[in-house]
Amino acid sequence: MIIRQKELKDCEEWVDININSWNENLKGIVSDKLLKFMIDNRDSRIKKDISNFKQDNYNYVLEEDNEVIGILKLKKCSRNNYEDYGEVQVLYLKTKEKGKGYGKILINKDFEVFRSLGYNKVIIGCLENNPSNEFYKHLGGIFIGQEPWNVLDEHYIENVYEFNI
Ligand SMILES: CC(C)(COP(=O)(O)OP(=O)(O)OC[C@H]1O[C@@H](n2cnc3c(N)ncnc32)[C@H](O)[C@@H]1OP(=O)(O)O)[C@@H](O)C(=O)NCCC(=O)NCCS
Repeated sequence: MIIRQKELKDCEEWVDININSWNENLKGIVSDKLLKFMIDNRDSRIKKDISNFKQDNYNYVLEEDNEVIGILKLKKCSRNNYEDYGEVQVLYLKTKEKGKGYGKILINKDFEVFRSLGYNKVIIGCLENNPSNEFYKHLGGIFIGQEPWNVLDEHYIENVYEFNI
């Protein structure tokens, strides 16, 4: 198993892991319209991802036997009142790889990267009712509140967790 920076060649797989994860894990939690929107926009998202591609220290893929099975995107937090936090923006595994410890490995990678950049706190948002809330709580995330998340014409609530790293 290796964790390496995302490369241009990973753009298509990156988008597919993201879209498939939503469709396989969030049915009934987000609307069918939103899930269909993601599928319908797959090709344009891949094109955009490729044309905006920039090598940086914040996008990672987890590879097992030369297959990308997980994706991780980090960023400096831009939410009000959390400017000195790191943030996990994307954390998805292929469904067949869930529950094998890879999520924990990616979270630890996240903490390692942010510590090396001088951060001591990380924030993660997780949609209300997503079973993955339990994953974050289990790993020591402290629930610090809820924030609205609006997409298309729909309104969702995100639970926000803080990790002291
Ligand atoms: C969330 C996700 C990244 C977690 O990765 P994972 O590899 O399945 O989790 P791990 O196997 O590393 O689990 C680590 C620990 O959390 C626990 N855990 C993981 N998911 C859990 C869940 N849904 N409910 C309760 N506990 C959970 C595991 O039992 C394990 O406990 P242990 O360390 O005591 O053995 C992965 O399941 C996933 O991609 N889910 C779908 C997409 C998603 O919701 N992403 C998060 C968006 S906010």
